Amino acid sequence: MFYPVHRPRRLRQNEKIRDLVRETEVSIKDLIYPMFAIWGTKVKNEVASMPGIYQLSVENIVEEAKEVASLGISSIILFGLPKDKDEAASGAYAVDGIVQRAIEAVKEKVPELIVITDVCLCEYMSHGHCGVIRDGEVLNDISIELLARTALSHAEAGADIVAPSDMMDGRVAAIRATLDENSYNNVPIMSYAAKYASSFYGPFREAADSTPSFGDRRSYQMDPGNVTEALREIHMDIEEGADIIMVKPALSYLDVIKAAYDEIDYPIAAYSVSGEYSMVKAAAEKGWIDERGVAMEILTSIKRAGADIILTYHAKDAAKWLNE
Ligand code: PBG
Repeated sequence: MFYPVHRPRRLRQNEKIRDLVRETEVSIKDLIYPMFAIWGTKVKNEVASMPGIYQLSVENIVEEAKEVASLGISSIILFGLPKDKDEAASGAYAVDGIVQRAIEAVKEKVPELIVITDVCLCEYMSHGHCGVIRDGEVLNDISIELLARTALSHAEAGADIVAPSDMMDGRVAAIRATLDENSYNNVPIMSYAAKYASSFYGPFREAADSTPSFGDRRSYQMDPGNVTEALREIHMDIEEGADIIMVKPALSYLDVIKAAYDEIDYPIAAYSVSGEYSMVKAAAEKGWIDERGVAMEILTSIKRAGADIILTYHAKDAAKWLNE
């Protein structure tokens, strides 16, 4: 009879031992919950492709923010749907813009919650691109002025962290300088540093009404085939003053998260994007997969790859499951 010396199954024989030796665990404290603010009162529009996710008017944002906080989640990230869109994205940096209103309301009613804002122009541009367009081209340097203005308006409204997601060159430096000049040197920047031109954003564009009216985002977001370029982007954003860097999407880019983890010593966030959520929801609705099992396994894999922070539409569900 052959007896193996090494029996890995010894450490798998019951729940207590498995708990003792587990290397990676998702914590509620790692999670950021994305929310979509829209004008109106008592508005609660479910996003068809994202069951359980809603466009909410400000008082409903506050109600959900209370629930989020009560579950032990520390942070939300806010996106906004303006009344009107134009070619200068003026709704993005309006003092009484939708995100600015939502920040103020949440900070007043749920002050313990960390309010992060997505800093981008696409939701506010009539053409749906993340920068200013001239002759069909997305202009970089004018766009970063508007992005810096937007980030400042969020800080003035009370945002705790700003998160630029536009992928223009030099925007982190521009935002840092503008915040510092206006005494917001304590507001951290979480930069979407390695953000890919991804088909996984489809459902989000329904939620945020930000589908480009022509072309696509491949002249500013990254090519899915590249990872050394992701590291360059991440290094640049750190040099420009980013405090937290982000990889986005997460599930198809676990190698990028790992590469960042191996190379840099800054906190890493990963955005498990809309399409990742919708795939799980749709398959679960059909009864083809177990939502809880799959969602937690995905979050665990993102953390195992090296992410410290996970932005996920499953944050509330995950918090409930982890609290059980
Ligand atoms: C804005 C922005 C997008 C997402 C976050 N910020 C969409 C895009 O770049 O088209 C995607 C988030 C998601 O899919 O959940 N630029």
